Formats: sequence, structure tokens, C-alpha cells
Amino acid sequence: MDSDVLTRTARAATAQPPTHDPLWWRSAVIYQVYVRSFADADGDGTGDLAGVRAHLGYLKDLGVDAIWFNPWYPSPMADGGYDVVDYRDIHPQFGTLADAEALIREALALGIRTIIDVVPNHISDQHPWFQEALAAEPGSPARERFWFHPGKGENGDEIPTHWVSSFQGETWTRTTNPDGTPGEWYLHMFTPEQPDLNWNHPDVRREHEEILRFWFDRGVAGVRIDSAALLIKDADLPEVGEKQGPGQHPTEDRDELHDVYRSWRAIADSYAGTRVLVGEIWVPDIDRFAAYLRDDEMHTAFNFDFLARPWGAASFRESIRQTLAAHAPVGAPSTWVLSNHDVTRPVTRYGRADTTFAFLKKRFGVPTDPELGRNRARAAALLVAALPGSLYIYQGDELGLPEVEDLPRDLIEDPMHYRSGGVDPGRDGCRVPLPWAGDEPPFAFSPDGSRTWLPQPPQWRALTVEAQRSDPHSTFSLYRDALALRRDLPALGDGDLDWWDDALPGADDVLAFRRGDDFACIVNTGEDPVSLGPLIGAGGQILLASSPLEGASLPGDSTAWLRLTSLTTTTHPAG
Ligand code: NOJ
Repeated sequence: MDSDVLTRTARAATAQPPTHDPLWWRSAVIYQVYVRSFADADGDGTGDLAGVRAHLGYLKDLGVDAIWFNPWYPSPMADGGYDVVDYRDIHPQFGTLADAEALIREALALGIRTIIDVVPNHISDQHPWFQEALAAEPGSPARERFWFHPGKGENGDEIPTHWVSSFQGETWTRTTNPDGTPGEWYLHMFTPEQPDLNWNHPDVRREHEEILRFWFDRGVAGVRIDSAALLIKDADLPEVGEKQGPGQHPTEDRDELHDVYRSWRAIADSYAGTRVLVGEIWVPDIDRFAAYLRDDEMHTAFNFDFLARPWGAASFRESIRQTLAAHAPVGAPSTWVLSNHDVTRPVTRYGRADTTFAFLKKRFGVPTDPELGRNRARAAALLVAALPGSLYIYQGDELGLPEVEDLPRDLIEDPMHYRSGGVDPGRDGCRVPLPWAGDEPPFAFSPDGSRTWLPQPPQWRALTVEAQRSDPHSTFSLYRDALALRRDLPALGDGDLDWWDDALPGADDVLAFRRGDDFACIVNTGEDPVSLGPLIGAGGQILLASSPLEGASLPGDSTAWLRLTSLTTTTHPAG
């Protein structure tokens, strides 16, 4: 055994989580930490790993099983860190590799696993590979790791394809030759600072496999795979057109991707302690989505269907039904995701007249009713926490933070904002630093007197962790109570769900389901209260509710969790 392997084995051995359940990921509650905005220990206004380490007790108290960290690598931050310069190090503003190793260890000691973000589709234009490629001749090996291509037309000044960027605008940028003349074009599905890698190139595959090993060796329990359905492109560069069947789109969800993830799965499976692959997959066809979750590919992928759906029993039921049906044949658990660092916070989204989510619809100045949004976000939190599978919580949702919609425009850094010509507010409104304590900014996010990288609204004094922790009715307490129950009740997490359509006959706005023999979740998505009297009268007992019950009446826009007795279910058999 060489010394590298020895070190690796030794590290992996010391990095075993305290609980050895190989199926931990099927029911896990995973908390998403956007490092830049979680907690700042050194006072530069930007969050850091020391800040996370100082608040691990908070996450333990909240009751999470794992943390997913957004990219924490050195990066010029052209896209919030999704433009990576070195996948084996830590951004100097966040700390050092030693800090990350200590954090992984300390979290594990508390029973909290670490999931990191890997970004395989593209790298930073400052990455040595891309700098080398720019300096090299057209046709040189250094350029083959990317998608360099001559332009069309007589002078090569026409763009090679009209593929559309997820960030709006063109997907190709023209280079300049050393003599100042216009050169080849290179592909970037996001910003020009994020050149796409060529996944047909062996170096690209090898490099990413080594990156996985690098982090698994350091005890990470899994990787979240960014833009996972985009890696492979059609080398013939066709336009998006009518002749392409499923799996043949030039840039998305191509059949060849599955081989990449099979090789990643083999690497993950070679480690002790179940290291998981979690895909960020925005694929509209739910069966093609589920194909990534076959048992030799990824373990799970984010289910974004639910968060895009409008508020309401019928739309939620349809999303849940389709999601569970698509996952069943591949034997993978679903994930439940109310938000993340890319989408509008639920409190704001659910308070609007249009409660659906779509990136292209985002605009400034859309009115929202904060009270309604808050009630619905709390109700949705209890709903998703009761569904079968794993649960993701984006930092700050447990505090009921709203989207910050009045950030000064000159402070917005998100390329989605400026690439839209300033029409799209972008995603920084859900990335504002967390309020921990105190009466005014920086609310103990940073040491007093520091200026946070995005300003916090002064009204957040009512939403700080300190203000909510001791209030049994706060959103933080609701999340903590729900996660504690979820841990204690064997019926929750992975498993089956039984719809209970006649739990409350005639209540059309109600979504009801049972888990196991004695648990039920009742969601009232209508405005009017519904009476839980028939269930309580038959022995049902309220375990938790997102709004205070008035007698046996569950207010509108609220969810209740119930413990059932055999009498309750006999009286109201499952639908
Ligand atoms: C998805 C990430 O969640 C998002 O924040 C990022 O901008 C794109 N992928 C590009 O990496």
C-alpha cells in the first residue's frame, strides 16, 4: 500500500459518522448553508467556516442530520462561487482547508454529516486550465478540454450556435488572438466567466473523479452535483431543433450522462459509510428525471416540481402523486425542497397572487401579503416534513425570513440580475446574511460595527434566532418541534404514504394523508377553518400545528400533524 492510500484509509477511518446507518440519506434532514451569508467570525462582512463552526450547536439543536455547503472553493465570485478556480482548496475569505477538515470532523462528532457542492459543468475563467487554453493556439490540446470553436460566416464572426443560456443572453464568447485579431469562440451555458468543460475529454473525467476522492478522503458524506444534466453536449453543435428525440437535446439531459454518474457511483461506493450523490437536475420529464436515480447512479436528486407549483391542495397532491410514482420504479426516495439559494423565499412566494415559481417570471415590485405568506410557508414546512423521503431546509427558512426585495441595485452581485438588463431582480434577495441576535444590523452575523456584504433589513430584529428561540410559537420553534417529532416517529422519513381523501368529507381544500398506522398530516390550503372534530372525537390527538387551533378548528393556510388511534382510522377509512 503506498503512503497516499495509507493516509486516505486513515483519514476515512477517523471520519466515520457516529451513526452507521447505511440508509441515512433516505430519510435525512439536510440543512443548506450558503457560507457567505451564514455567520461571519472574522468581521469582514462575509460568512466563513469559523462562523459555521461557532454555530454547529444551533444546527444540532434544530435537529438536522447533514449540512450541504454551497461551493466553498477559491473563486472570483462571478456567480456566487459557482465559478471555481481550485476544487481542492477553500476560498480565502471563508478560511483554509484545515478549517474545512476541522468543520467536517466537528460536525460529525455531533452526528451531522457534510455534503459539499461539486461544479462539474464549468469552471472559472481564472482556472489554470482555461488560462492555459486561452494562451494556446486554436486546435491545441489545452483547448480541447473546453468547447472552443471557430465562428460561422466568412470572418468567423457569427456565433457557432444559438443555444440559450440559463442566465439569458448568448452562450458563446469570442476570444482575441495574441496579435489582437478576433479569435475562436468558447461555450458557456452560464456567464462568460464560467467556460463549459468538454466532458468527452479524458482529463476532465479523470480530474473530477480525483476531486470526488479528495473530498471523500476528508470525510464528506456526499456531493451535490451542480447542473448535473448539462455536462454532455452534442459535438456536432446542432441548433435545438425538432428532429431531436429524448436524450438527444444538444445540451441537456443527454443519454451519455448516465455513464458519468455510474463511474461516480462506483467511486462513492468504494468508501465506507454510504457517500451519496445528490443531483441538481432540472428536467421537465419526470421519468427521465427518475432515470438518474437507478441504483447504480445517483442516490437522490432535488425534486423542484413541488416548489414550482401553485399553493393549493389539488396542485400539491398532483405534484406529490407524480413524484412518488416516478420514484417508485427506481426504488429511490424523493427529496422535498421548499427553496434554496436560487429561488424566491417561500414566505414571499406564497403571499403573492401568483404562487408558482419560474425563473423567467421574476420581476421587481410584485406585491406580497407577508402574513398570508408566513402562514402558508409554515403550513408547507409541516407538509413537506411529513412526506416520504429526505428533506432540504435552506438556511433562514427556519426563521421565516422573507425575500429581501429592496436591495440597493448597485449592491446586487447576481449575474441573473445584470444579464437580464436589470429586469430580473436576481437571487441575492434570498442570500442576505442571517440575523442571529440583537436589535440592529448586523444582528450578530458579524461582530458589531461590521458591514455585511448585503444589507439586512432592520425589521429582521423580530426574526433573529435569539428572538425566536425562546418563543414557542416562532417559526424556529415550529421547525425544531417538527424535526424532533420526525426523528421520534418511525412512520416519518422514508416509507409509504396513504392518501386519506375522506378524512374530512367535503373539505375540498384539504390535503390529507397517513403515514404508518398512527400518523396523519392534514393541510388546509383554503381560507376558511375546517373542523378536525370528527378526527379528534374519534381519538385523534394533535401533535403539532402550524397555526394555533381554535378548539378543534384548523385555521385556513395551516397544517396539523395528528396521532391516530385505530378508532380514528376505522371511522374514516383511507381513500
Ligand atoms: C445551479 C446553482 O444552484 C446556481 O446557483 C448556479 O448559478 C448555477 N447552477 C450555475 O452553476
